[in-house]
Formats: sequence, structure tokens, C-alpha cells
Amino acid sequence: MVETSFWQNKKVFITGHTGFKGTWLSLMLTHLGAEVTGYSLDPLTKPSMYDAVDLFGVTDSVIGDIRDEKNLTAALENSGAEVVFHLAAQSLVRESYVNPVETYSTNVMGTVHLLEAVRKVHNVKAAIMVTSDKCYAANESLIPHIETDAMGGHDPYSSSKGAMELVCASYANSFFCEKGSANIATARAGNVIGGGDWSKDRLVPDILASYADKQKVSIRNPNAVRPWQFVLDPLYGYLELAEYMYGQELTGFGEGWNFGPDSSNVCAVKDIVSIFKELSDNEIDFSVNTDPQPYENPLLNLNSCKAKERLAWKPSLKIEDALAWTYNWHIAFEEKERDMRAYTLQQIEDYLNLAEST
Ligand SMILES: NC(=O)c1ccc[n+]([C@@H]2O[C@H](COP(=O)([O-])OP(=O)(O)OC[C@H]3O[C@@H](n4cnc5c(N)ncnc54)[C@H](O)[C@@H]3O)[C@@H](O)[C@H]2O)c1
Repeated sequence: MVETSFWQNKKVFITGHTGFKGTWLSLMLTHLGAEVTGYSLDPLTKPSMYDAVDLFGVTDSVIGDIRDEKNLTAALENSGAEVVFHLAAQSLVRESYVNPVETYSTNVMGTVHLLEAVRKVHNVKAAIMVTSDKCYAANESLIPHIETDAMGGHDPYSSSKGAMELVCASYANSFFCEKGSANIATARAGNVIGGGDWSKDRLVPDILASYADKQKVSIRNPNAVRPWQFVLDPLYGYLELAEYMYGQELTGFGEGWNFGPDSSNVCAVKDIVSIFKELSDNEIDFSVNTDPQPYENPLLNLNSCKAKERLAWKPSLKIEDALAWTYNWHIAFEEKERDMRAYTLQQIEDYLNLAEST
């Protein structure tokens, strides 16, 4: 269970705080009493979760490139952070086919620069590097990946995440193995859903954008199966992992961790559309886009027994609830005059109560 007392006044550094997951994480941490410094480029979408909840002012925000090591190191040092969460990334599979160099330089070299900054700034005790379920060499089956499976990735995004994993393991073995050095772990979550995601070519944002425009949503791979999960489920796991890693002398928590959903949340794209149809009283409809598409892994699943057994972590929201919370967030956002920071904080509070009661 996440300990509020642990996070009270804890100095935390988050890269990618202007993104979808980074904004949720920043808000959850400030809600728990942490002092958050964020380091990222400006929000990549319009609208954005960062602007919707007016995160500026809640965190210390440094706008900078993760590949600018000097600026990054200075920001980390100034933050005084003891815990780091690394989420800054080019995070989209299809974009990685268009801009592979940018994807590798941001995801792989960006991670190298952050690890160098952690080496130089001696304050950090725990660093959680967020990769993806797509870091694994695809088995194209529903056999869930375990943490020791081979790294891989067909497309540039996925392989950049596999490469991030190798970089983190190498740095942990080479530079963070002395007594007193930072613990470095990697976290692999599934397909994350929640309010405030407007990223291009992601299913749930596509559905909600088409709905807002009263258009049919065009679906590329209706039979693709993914491990869907509410955004706070993996974020809650990252916090639990950081608590275990903090203050431990290289105890074995500094390694790879899966934070995927329960098997009932592993379902096809067309099932997600059906649930949204029901939520919207049949106002959401879709058509299948039969144009040739770049390759995307058709089947993907994660085994998260390790996090359940060793961290006592568990996902709290079933897919129907995760989609309902997401849908309701966007309905509230469309009402314009709603205070979306207050709305999001209420979802965080509800989530924390749920996680603590189950
Ligand atoms: N959303 C998902 O379903 C999902 C699933 C698994 C893993 N992930 C991983 O989680 C992390 C966060 O995902 P997200 O959905 O919030 O992504 P996002 O695209 O919403 O946010 C990306 C963030 O990275 C920042 N960024 C991008 N390039 C940068 C650069 N060169 N320098 C500094 N900052 C830069 C952006 O400004 C933004 O703050 C990513 O590492 C992503 O790969 C996401």
C-alpha cells in the first residue's frame, strides 16, 4: 500500500510531467504531499492533460529537452530530489515509423543522459525508468511476458523501449553497484487509459475525439488484443516500488517490473469500442479502416505476479470501470466550466480509497 507519510515533503523529479501519465503522476504525488519538480518539453497535444488540470504552479516546471544533459543535470540538482520517475519519451508506435531517429534519440539517448545526471547528482536514492510492455521480443501469443523474457521490439518505438531496458540494466551493473548508489528499476505497464489523453493514433483518444466531433471512429486493428488498464493502476505500482527501493542498499528491487492488468482486462480493440457504445447509449459507432497499416503486434499480455507477490501491488479497476472513469472525465471536460483539477483530484482520491480497501 502507498504510504502517505513516505511521500510527505519528499522531493521528487519527474521527466515527462507535461504528458498524459506524467501529469496524473505529478498530481497524485502533490496530493500525497510530495514536492515535485518536472522536466519536459511543452505539452505535445492541444488540448493537453497538463493544461486541463492547470498543473503549472502545482509543480516546479522546467521546460527542457531530455537530451540536453547540462540543463537536465542542473534541473535534477536544483530539485534536490531523492526519487526520480522517468516518463519523457516519444511514446507512439506509429509516430516512430515516421520519425525513427527522433524516437531512438529521445527514448534511448534521453535515458542515457538522465542516468548520467543521476550519476553526477548524488542525492538520488531510487529511480524508476518507465519503459513499456512493448519492450519484449514479441511472442505473438497470449502467453503473458514475464520479466526475464528477451528484450526486442519490431517497430522503432518498441525496440527503443527494449534498448532502454538494456541501457538501464547496463548502468545498474556498471555504475550503480556501489554501496550508497541509487537503485535503478524499470517499469513495464500495459495500454494505459484515463482522462486527459489526446495523443494521436491511440484507440481511446481516437474514440473520444470522434465522439466529440460526432463522427464514426475509424478502427485499424479490431482484433488486436492488449492489456488495458486505468492510468492510476501502474502509477500506484511505481509509487509502491519507489518506497521499497528507497533507503535499501541494492536489495534486488532495482530490476525490471511488470505492472499489467488482470486477465479480464486483456481484450480486443473491438471489445473496447463495444463498452464505449454502451456508455454513450449507442452514440459511439465505428468503421474498420482496411487500408494497409504498419505492423503492430497483434497479441500482447503481461504477467505481473512478481509485483503482486513482492510489492503486494494489485490493479484496482476492471476494464468497464476504467472506461467509465475515462468517459466521465471527458464528459466533464466538454462541459468547459468544470474545474478539471478538482475533478481529477476527486478521481485520485476515489482511486486511493479503492486501492486501500481491496
Ligand atoms: N500511455 C500508454 O499507454 C503507455 C503504455 C506503456 C508505456 N508508456 C510510457 O509511459 C511514458 C509516458 O507516456 P505518456 O502516455 O504519458 O506519453 P505522452 O506522449 O503523453 O508524454 C510524453 C512526455 O515526454 C515529453 N518529451 C517528449 N520528448 C521529450 C524530449 N526530447 N525531452 C523532454 N521531454 C520530452 C513530452 O513533453 C511529454 O511530457 C512514456 O515513456 C511511454 O512510452 C505509456
